Amino acid sequence: MKVFITREIPKVGFELLKKAGIDFDWYKKDSVIPRKEFLRRIKDCDGLVCLLTEKIDKEAIDTMQRCKIVANFAVGYNNIDVEYAKSKNIIVTNTPDVLTESTADLTMALVLACARRLFEGEKYLREGKYKGWKPMLLLGTELRNKTFGILGAGRIGTAVGIRAKAFGTKIIYHSLKRNYYLEEQTGAKKASLNSLLKKSDFLSVHLPLNEKTFHFLNKERLQLLKKDAIIINTARGEIIEEKYLIKFLKSEKIKAAGLDVFENEPNVNPELLKLNNVVVLPHLGSATVEARNGMAELAVKNIINVLKGKPPLTPL
Ligand code: GLV
Repeated sequence: MKVFITREIPKVGFELLKKAGIDFDWYKKDSVIPRKEFLRRIKDCDGLVCLLTEKIDKEAIDTMQRCKIVANFAVGYNNIDVEYAKSKNIIVTNTPDVLTESTADLTMALVLACARRLFEGEKYLREGKYKGWKPMLLLGTELRNKTFGILGAGRIGTAVGIRAKAFGTKIIYHSLKRNYYLEEQTGAKKASLNSLLKKSDFLSVHLPLNEKTFHFLNKERLQLLKKDAIIINTARGEIIEEKYLIKFLKSEKIKAAGLDVFENEPNVNPELLKLNNVVVLPHLGSATVEARNGMAELAVKNIINVLKGKPPLTPL
């Protein structure tokens, strides 16, 4: 039995495969595997560990002759045609829970970076402009008593809500289902989408990306945001119609944005990079040792289970 991994993952994953006596190989270069090579190497694998940088579409699924399981090294799975994989009897898994806390921490880092203009301050100092304390230098905004809106109150949205509560914000959320746990923990109130958009001082996006959520925050919806609103996206770039976000940030119809994800990732619209009221990060949500080890362990345990005839731990 053979497992292919599309890029190096933390060694805990490799060790588990060795211990289980499963043969494996991975793409050894420190870059995204080129599509041609990817298709060539998945032909005869029994299990595949892939990243969000690989499209597991019909072509890839039809290429795999023997694959029983595709284990995505990510919680989001918009890179995979799950229904088609299932129709070919391929199990698909993701890595929920293990990255929730890391992603929520990073979301708060972006909230604070935008609220307190951290990177503007950093840049100012590094450029040698700091010549002494002054009363009106780089004034930001406090979180206390502000309305913190959560769009999509799943695992990560909930973990963000709990953190935001500790900063003294009032939490509102919009989600398909009522989240009693979030309500109990934070006093959060469920809101209609319009009310969430109109009331939030901070709006944090935690929706999964799918056909229904592509450009969910379009021009009309972005227009509903307060002039002082700060928007944070650690979910997927395509959820926001980026050209309108840029337009509104430029004209200061939206105060600031903290973005860990982009519409055309890994390409970032150069217009965004020109703006001082934007904080951009290279998709670091789950980039902690703890989360990445957890992801490697979970993805590989899913593979081992399925290849040994047991049920996967986190199937989609
Ligand atoms: C990262 O973006 C993930 O979905 O795990």
